[in-house]
Amino acid sequence: MLTELLEWLAPSPGQVVVDATLGAGGVSAAFLTRILPGGRVLALDRDPSAVSAARQRFAVYGDAFTAVVGRFSNLERIAAEHQLQADIVVMDLGISSIQLDDPARGFSFQVEGPLDMRMAPSEQQTQTAADIVASYSEADLADLFFELGEERHSRAMARAITARRRQTPIRTTTDLAQICAQALPRRLWPKRIHPATRVFLALRVAVNDELQELERGLVAATQILRPDGRIGTLSFQPSEHRLTKHSLNVLAKDCVCPSHQMVCTCAHRATLSLVTRRSVKPTSEEVTRNPRARSAQLRVAVRLPTPGP
Ligand SMILES: C[S@@+](CC[C@H](N)C(=O)[O-])C[C@H]1O[C@@H](n2cnc3c(N)ncnc32)[C@H](O)[C@@H]1O
Repeated sequence: MLTELLEWLAPSPGQVVVDATLGAGGVSAAFLTRILPGGRVLALDRDPSAVSAARQRFAVYGDAFTAVVGRFSNLERIAAEHQLQADIVVMDLGISSIQLDDPARGFSFQVEGPLDMRMAPSEQQTQTAADIVASYSEADLADLFFELGEERHSRAMARAITARRRQTPIRTTTDLAQICAQALPRRLWPKRIHPATRVFLALRVAVNDELQELERGLVAATQILRPDGRIGTLSFQPSEHRLTKHSLNVLAKDCVCPSHQMVCTCAHRATLSLVTRRSVKPTSEEVTRNPRARSAQLRVAVRLPTPGP
């Protein structure tokens, strides 16, 4: 979706870009070439390994590129520390291919690794996926799989997990993947994805508190934009799509009072105007080239001037 991001956010020389999800640096690299001369990119990631790799890769850009370890829910503080207002904020949500493909991080059910899934193991983030699998009640696991992963067979998955952990602790990604596969008869397996996919997604979202981060991050990103500055979000899974759509809609509304209320008492004022009415999806060529992009949705909004007193 890089082409679409560049098209809708239209970076130009001299602009200040905040890449709120640095990852492997593909977005930062593309924006850097378009905002020079005169512009700068501030990139952040909660994963320290992404930040140290990018500092090396982009060292040639000198002061035009700064990478910091941080969470996008703290964007207001981070932008203030760097004394900037942004022309563009990009949020490319979820995990990077580097994180997914590293067995030691525990995000993938395809290779054996510890059941970890923390994006920032060195941050104050101590709860791993293994901790959740070991400590949640059967009912809480089922709710988690249903709410955060939209797993239709959430109860069967939770039952299989609690039955197994009574015999032996569940420590690895492949252990959990096997338990999920065995929890359902083959005829109930999903057609195009592994039976553990949604359980893994739900655990990842819970371990990293991703929805709360996203809700706060969108508000913070709006606050650091200059008037006419643009925010672009790329979301990849249903709970992210829903929350991004809802939060941007709320930020673009002048009143959020309940619809039955005749007189507005909320004093809420729109800070954004939506640029994409419907989300933008990848082209079929991109999906063929990169199947991981198949569920991507791009949304763009523009910052309104702050209303006067
Ligand atoms: C999909 S990847 C970004 C890929 C990147 N745009 C690229 O071109 O390589 C998402 C990245 O955002 C980071 N991330 C996720 N949630 C975050 C948060 N709340 N604050 C900061 N970084 C976050 C992840 O650690 C991951 O590296």
